[in-house]
Amino acid sequence: MSELRDFVEILRAAGEITRLRLLALLAEGELSVKDLTEILDQSQPRVSRHLRVLTESGLIARHAEGAWAFFRLSDEDSAMALVQHLLSQLDRNDIVLSADMARLEAVRKDHQMRAASYFSKVAKDWDRLRSLHAPDSAVEAAILELVADQHYNQLIDLGTGTGRMLELLQGHFKKGIGIDSSREMISVARSKFEKQKNDHMFVRLGDIAQLDEYAQSAELVMLHQVLHHFDDPGIALQSARKTLKPGGEILVVDFMPHKLEFLREDQAHRRLGLSHVQMAAWAASADLNVKTSIEIPHNKPGGGLTVCIWQLSDQS
Ligand SMILES: C[S@@+](CC[C@H](N)C(=O)[O-])C[C@H]1O[C@@H](n2cnc3c(N)ncnc32)[C@H](O)[C@@H]1O
Repeated sequence: MSELRDFVEILRAAGEITRLRLLALLAEGELSVKDLTEILDQSQPRVSRHLRVLTESGLIARHAEGAWAFFRLSDEDSAMALVQHLLSQLDRNDIVLSADMARLEAVRKDHQMRAASYFSKVAKDWDRLRSLHAPDSAVEAAILELVADQHYNQLIDLGTGTGRMLELLQGHFKKGIGIDSSREMISVARSKFEKQKNDHMFVRLGDIAQLDEYAQSAELVMLHQVLHHFDDPGIALQSARKTLKPGGEILVVDFMPHKLEFLREDQAHRRLGLSHVQMAAWAASADLNVKTSIEIPHNKPGGGLTVCIWQLSDQS
């Protein structure tokens, strides 16, 4: 097929109402077929058919994950430029598009509320629960090795939960701030820190999506077992990145891809682990460089989840 024909095929793919709506939604971040079906209020086979046309045209990319599939706009420059141009011509106040955005907002709120309700229930038991599904001691030893000779003026632990990362790294910073959106988690962390009578670790209620007050304030940012709770971990990483001082680093600690589908329901996971390819793409779009990655397999009999530590450095 000639390039001209290819181009017409791409325009045909985008030139349909549902598919344009899908492009506008995916411009807001990665979404699963399930979410897109709910937002568009169309049958799953129908939405999947439209997504297939867009994927085949190269305008979007698909990532299969257990029983779910996630979609995002293509990373390819020419496809991205075309989609952005098309979307810039749309009237954002259009009644159909603004209803889609309102439903997207509602779907995201619903995910956040499910996660918040899970964490409020488990907050008191979190310190016991957290080690059940991760090889804690090996992971913590590897984290300590990575920061061995470092001393930071300010460390920020995003999604701090009960503040374990602050406790672990307390010999390595002057001021440590843990931020979490769960009041219950924060209050467990706070009462622990109060008992320890420390004066350099603080916890604050806050959302990873809104970190303006911490802009460019930390030399090290931790995201320990947090990103798998996001539909689009790349967006959360971009937000985290804003809190980094020039030359700073982010340590992401999370699961490698796995197939434990029940974790979505039982423990509010949105993503079944993160792959090296995904991390490289998310890091690049946050202007970060993957400096090191260390995989730590589970040491329990019968196997389990592999954890990975990605050390991301500011490349600006
Ligand atoms: C699996 S726990 C990990 C807690 C801690 N980092 C650890 O490893 O023990 C995930 C934490 O992320 C928090 N969280 C989820 N979404 C968040 C958001 N948008 N902003 C801030 N915290 C969030 C949850 O409340 C929860 O405490």
